Amino acid sequence: MSLLELNGVKVHFPVKKGVLFDRTVGHVYAVDGVSLSVEAGQTYGLVGESGCGKTTLGRAILRLVDITDGEVVFDGTDLAKLPGEEMRRFRRRLQMVFQDPLGSLNPRQNIESILSEGMAAHGIGADQEERRERIREILARVGLPANALSRYPHEFSGGQRQRIGIARALVLEPDVIICDEPVSALDVSIQAQVINLLEELQEAMGLTYVVIAHDLAVVRHISDVVGVMYLGSLVEEAPSDTLYAEPRHPYTRALMSAVPVPDPEVEDNRERILLTGDLPSPANPPAGCRFHTRCPWKQDTLCATDRPELRDLGGGHRVACHWAEKIADGTIRPSANAATVVPPPAAEREEKETAAAS
Ligand SMILES: Nc1ncnc2c1ncn2[C@@H]1O[C@H](COP(=O)(O)OP(=O)(O)OP(=O)(O)O)[C@@H](O)[C@H]1O
Ligand code: SF4
Ligand SMILES: [Mg+2]
Repeated sequence: MSLLELNGVKVHFPVKKGVLFDRTVGHVYAVDGVSLSVEAGQTYGLVGESGCGKTTLGRAILRLVDITDGEVVFDGTDLAKLPGEEMRRFRRRLQMVFQDPLGSLNPRQNIESILSEGMAAHGIGADQEERRERIREILARVGLPANALSRYPHEFSGGQRQRIGIARALVLEPDVIICDEPVSALDVSIQAQVINLLEELQEAMGLTYVVIAHDLAVVRHISDVVGVMYLGSLVEEAPSDTLYAEPRHPYTRALMSAVPVPDPEVEDNRERILLTGDLPSPANPPAGCRFHTRCPWKQDTLCATDRPELRDLGGGHRVACHWAEKIADGTIRPSANAATVVPPPAAEREEKETAAAS
């Protein structure tokens, strides 16, 4: 059994109206039926545009938001229905690292105080002396100097603060860490360092990660499996290499086509899909396939009426598209609308080839 298993998880936020905010006039379908599993010691990468529900899903796993429906099975126990008292026992084992390390660290507490707070609450370490020893070990592990203990968050750089955020999770000896956009607030040069650190720690400590990012490039190398979210649900999931080599869902292809490739030849020839239309509101998601209002491959049947389920195409490659096979083999072509699909500029390519040959 997987260490973490989500079955049909839904998080619907009520939209209230009225002077006393007591009338529910609708719901934001932030997470709307997500099923996935994460194996122990592995990394699940979760990607998608802003507002698609990634953070809400992460928070649901930790029970930081109310789960409307579904199961969050961690190490054999469904956390979704656990009474608060019993949930406390599991809290320590599931930790979160946030995007904005400064915003999540109390500026008036020094590092020792920030890190020992949770330890004391969970009864880790017999006394402060023992806790300090443990904190020293962890600080060294995440590459921070021992004198960091008595310093304050503002005295550190962005990358160091994220290391503090990671240390704060680690001192609690968790099994699972949900990293929510762990590097998106950092300079590109620092991003790789923090990702590498996460990988080293995983190997050394046997951690299981869920890494959330809006950037496909960030999760690619660290993830064993990647799931792509659109408007509250998964549209595609596959082992990382498979997903990047053969994206099958039109939305994934569009996301992928926005990532520049360093190799100039590949870059010139790669598919470019520009999505038209705005992301629909999760308070009023389209019927049928949620992507049909923007999908260049949309068909007259099924797409606007029937919501596609995630189907396994083999090898753990799951896709929620009625027409995935026909799109893959070219039987179904994207609509001729040039604004939605921009093929590689062939004329330009020929020109270049001619120039190169001469
Ligand atoms: N507490 C809340 N009450 C009502 N709506 C919420 C709440 N939290 C999130 N939402 C809404 O749920 C949707 C999903 O939000 P969420 O923060 O999970 O997206 P995200 O994928 O993490 O986006 P980003 O990439 O910007 O962080 C959004 O429409 C958001 O406005
Ligand atoms: S089901 Fe239809 S609208 Fe949805 S992704 Fe597939 S082709 Fe596009
Ligand atoms: Mg978020």
